[in-house]
Amino acid sequence: MRLRAARPSSASQELEVIAPSKLSIDNVSKSFQSASGKVLALDRVSLNVTEAEFVCLVGASGCGKSTLLNIIAGLEKPDSGAVLADGKPVTAPGRERLVMFQEPALFPWLTVFGNVLFGLKLKPNLSRKDRHDVAKYYLELVGLSRFEHANIHELSGGMKQRVSLARALAPNPRVLLMDEPFAALDALTREQLYGDIQEIWKARRKTIVFVTHNVREAACLGDRVLLFSPHPGHIQEEFPVKLPRPREINSVDLAGYATRITKALKNLGQAEPVVTK
Ligand SMILES: Nc1ncnc2c1ncn2[C@@H]1O[C@H](COP(=O)(O)OP(=O)(O)OP(=O)(O)O)[C@@H](O)[C@H]1O
Ligand SMILES: [Mg+2]
Repeated sequence: MRLRAARPSSASQELEVIAPSKLSIDNVSKSFQSASGKVLALDRVSLNVTEAEFVCLVGASGCGKSTLLNIIAGLEKPDSGAVLADGKPVTAPGRERLVMFQEPALFPWLTVFGNVLFGLKLKPNLSRKDRHDVAKYYLELVGLSRFEHANIHELSGGMKQRVSLARALAPNPRVLLMDEPFAALDALTREQLYGDIQEIWKARRKTIVFVTHNVREAACLGDRVLLFSPHPGHIQEEFPVKLPRPREINSVDLAGYATRITKALKNLGQAEPVVTK
């Protein structure tokens, strides 16, 4: 597809492929106080993610996937346990670990280009020209160069997600945290994005933690698929996916993995949240 984006020389340092992070999630627990009582969202979750690994989290609704992603991002604090990125505790959000949500969360008053530039505000030391060059590079990478002047409302859902991806990639984070980023898209657009994300992941070397309800999507993208069990959320089972890349979402081999994971998911059932006063 589109990895033909030429690297502008002045910004070339900024566009270097930087080392992806290693993540260590150690015994993380988190509960929330709700109107009906206390809900234990995560119960002693431990997980190691190696540099440039692509890990997918699947599990029933409410089993704590987003909570874990937010804790890794530094957007939420665990009640106990810790998250380490390259050995250092994560205590706050930072540009090394960026999140891409299900809804693109773009600024409607900015153009496509303006939205990607906005992500580069996290890099105050870049000159204006470098910022522009970097934004252009990522728009080309996601195949949206022709739409850089477009307004957000003129874009399709898939195009908006591409802008979101460019905005998340532009500050060159070491970790990309993706929370159901393709859930709202039609099947064809999603398929195209599976190919794109695999290419971008290979070219830009990111550590990716990806949350999805779509088991086939998880098997297509992940080096490992982790199955979360609900209430309280913890990692129940792990499925390494040993298929060559790039992977085709409709391949028979992939269907075999998806069937096994789906079976395990169904066996877990849909437990109700356990609420304590
Ligand atoms: N801010 C909050 N306040 C109160 N309870 C919360 C809060 N955030 C999450 N929870 C509760 O924690 C549990 C885990 O929620 P979380 O959003 O992490 O689940 P999830 O696996 O991402 O679900 P989904 O697949 O539906 O997105 C749920 O029972 C939810 O109600
Ligand atoms: Mg969620």
